[in-house]
Amino acid sequence: MKTAQIRQKFLDFYASKGHTIEPSASLIPHNDKTLLFVNAGMVPFKDVFSGVEKRPYNRAASCQRCVRAGGKHNDLENVGYTARHHTFFEMLGNFSFGDYFKREAIQYAWEFLTVELRLPKEKFWVSVFEEDDEAEDIWVNEIGFPRNRISRCGAKDNFWQMGDTGPCGPSSEIFYDHGENIAGGPPGHADEDGDRYIEIWNLVFTQYDKQEDGYLKPLAAPCVDTGMGLERLAAVLQHKNNNYDTDGFKTLTKAIVGLTKEDGGIKQDNASVRVIADHIRSTAFMVVDGVIPSNEGRGYVLRRIIRRAIRHGHKIGINKVFFYRLAPVLALELKDAYPELKKALANVEKVLKREEQRFAQTLDQGMGILTAAITQLKGNEIDGETVFKLYDTYGFPADLTADVAREHSLTIDMVGFEIEMTKQRDRARQAGDFKTLQKGVDISEQTQFLGYEQLESSSSVQALIKEGELVEQIEAGEHGIVVLATSSFYAESGGQIGDCGILSNDTVAFVVSNTQKQKSGAFEHHGILNKGILKVGDVLAAVVDKKSRKCIARNHSATHLLHAALRTVLGETVTQKGSLVDSEKLRFDFSHDEVINKVEIDKIEGMVNRKILANTKVHTDVSDIDTAKKKGAVALFGEKYGDTVRVLTMGKDDFSVELCGGTHVNQLGDIGLFRITSEGGVSAGVRRIEAVTGYSAYQFDNQTQDNLNQIAQMTKSSSVQVVEKVAQLIKQQKELEKQIVSMQKQLASNQGDDLVNQAQGVNGVSVLASVVEGVNGKDLRDIVDKLKDKLGSAVIVLAAVSGNKVSLVAGVTKDLTDKYQAGKILNHVAQQVGGKGGGRPDMAQGGGTESSKVDEALASVKGLI
Ligand code: ALA
Repeated sequence: MKTAQIRQKFLDFYASKGHTIEPSASLIPHNDKTLLFVNAGMVPFKDVFSGVEKRPYNRAASCQRCVRAGGKHNDLENVGYTARHHTFFEMLGNFSFGDYFKREAIQYAWEFLTVELRLPKEKFWVSVFEEDDEAEDIWVNEIGFPRNRISRCGAKDNFWQMGDTGPCGPSSEIFYDHGENIAGGPPGHADEDGDRYIEIWNLVFTQYDKQEDGYLKPLAAPCVDTGMGLERLAAVLQHKNNNYDTDGFKTLTKAIVGLTKEDGGIKQDNASVRVIADHIRSTAFMVVDGVIPSNEGRGYVLRRIIRRAIRHGHKIGINKVFFYRLAPVLALELKDAYPELKKALANVEKVLKREEQRFAQTLDQGMGILTAAITQLKGNEIDGETVFKLYDTYGFPADLTADVAREHSLTIDMVGFEIEMTKQRDRARQAGDFKTLQKGVDISEQTQFLGYEQLESSSSVQALIKEGELVEQIEAGEHGIVVLATSSFYAESGGQIGDCGILSNDTVAFVVSNTQKQKSGAFEHHGILNKGILKVGDVLAAVVDKKSRKCIARNHSATHLLHAALRTVLGETVTQKGSLVDSEKLRFDFSHDEVINKVEIDKIEGMVNRKILANTKVHTDVSDIDTAKKKGAVALFGEKYGDTVRVLTMGKDDFSVELCGGTHVNQLGDIGLFRITSEGGVSAGVRRIEAVTGYSAYQFDNQTQDNLNQIAQMTKSSSVQVVEKVAQLIKQQKELEKQIVSMQKQLASNQGDDLVNQAQGVNGVSVLASVVEGVNGKDLRDIVDKLKDKLGSAVIVLAAVSGNKVSLVAGVTKDLTDKYQAGKILNHVAQQVGGKGGGRPDMAQGGGTESSKVDEALASVKGLI
């Protein structure tokens, strides 16, 4: 039975049972801000279930187009990996609004499957909600369904809800057994995820309307909402285990294979072909229903799906703009069921084509970067920065990158990605207004810091601040400050920057981009709420971004070692003047009156690295300030210390002892590697060292090595011989320069000889005005001198041209200087080329910047005589 026939049969059957047939509604939920897309057949009837809306009927049926991508029901990442997940599918459903309930719902379903479609009864399996004796009773006693083929499952499987709020209730699901040669077990069994028992129909006994606070408000009268995936049912009736093998997909997959290279070996069952077939269905209908690609909300879901499809096209070797060409194939396939697609076809093609053209510009480059990142990857997770870079610069949605990662059995660091996103948003905000951080409101309670020992903790929200005011709640998308009772986040102090990370529970996620401390000791977690509504009193898991914290700890401990090494190498007069420790680098300012030479720098860097290699444990003691000072702790002048202080001791024989509240490595070896990247003076008597540690230091070295290799390659030597080779090249260059100078001289004197013949007699005076090639200003003077000798009595003006620049020299032989002065003549010429000049009566020099006028200017010399 063809898909189109099945669709019709279902609607006819329920019409015969007194149901009003409603056409599929748009994918965009009407008057509903809680959902991105219609994700089930019941969504258009949501208000009818809750009683807000009245219709002239109390039973209905439909075949509703649905999208499950983004939001509560999201199948996007499963598409292409399973036999039955789609971003777009059609849901067959019958609904009772306070009319019939469990009994009829089950009876109708059973009749449709076994009588109308004549499917064999023994092929079915059923599940019911664990507390629902009534449903099981109906199945067993009224339908005659064997009790041993009924599973009772918990709320995860058998309690259906549309979204975080709205109609919901216990359900009973009907499964079809695709046969024992396919792996998998019935519902509720350990191997239920296999492809053997496939859920085809969900009968929901809608009894509640879930409220925002979680309360299950009973409906005035119990209702029924059922949903059966048309694609799954078609697979059953067409004896296929995979939805993509049914007629509805075959035309599409065939058309896609037709777009690949003939000898490319791509077949209809190729995973990428299937992904594209799925994606054209969802994207085409989204455009039909008015969505256009953008960077937020529905538009972003659309963009993500289109780009994912295009990437899969790229993967199977389609290297032209192709995706939009599938829209007419789909429109033809669905011309009877969805005439709206055919009507909107031209627009669908235009929108899809434009989006593909836009993405095609960066796809190749992005894939290159991603492939390189994957090849160089050490672990099995692609870091958040790469994911962000691909997103930000190359237009790769994170789930597209995740999709590629998954093909290599890798995952992506979503938390890291979110942190980068937040940082970017903050940067954007800062660019718009100069307040780097939100304004706080003083909170008297101190936050207890747990982050020395643990990077994850649980705590309740003490206060919320938004736009400089205390608020009761923060909503998704809003920036704000969260003050917690306890926290693992380090708040900026002592030069160490505040931690970033995530505060979350099941319903909210607040991305922290910075942590600050108030005078009272209350910690402000600055960031943005990405999900849910955050309220005062909520309990959150506070998880510090571990990667960033580890880098910070490395840099902070290295700062202590650097400080001690500076005092050892340069003397005890070195005192700290300032320091900054973040996840990328460390910066240390200190007093020192002299320039530090290369030998000292090497000594300092070497000393720090030897301490790291010795890998001794870092000791932390809490004591009073006097005990700490006795131990040799370096206290900062002018700094106030409390009753107790933390004393950090590092290295053998107490190499470094400092008072410090920061977070540090456990063993010095954790720092990995220490590299000074710059050293210089910042103000009188104060110098600054910047350095990197750990992986950054490795990268720094790597970059240096790369540069060296490149130079070696360019100079055709090896990295070992490159210094010698470059020295040799410099020597050669100097010799060449000398040769050029002497050759220029030679050339000038040759030209002088030629020029003699160019002198013309004007009113009895020999006049020479000419451009000379390939010489500089100084050579011009020599040539003029020579010419004066040769000509005996003459007025000479010579010009040398380089780009726009003109150099001029004028000479007059002594016998003529009474009548003609070189300075005047030169000025006359120079003015015409946009410049000036001057000198003695017999020799003058100058220039200009308009070389295009030089010939005319020289020609005017004759007129002066
Ligand atoms: N609304 C129910 C579902 O989508 C039938 O599964």
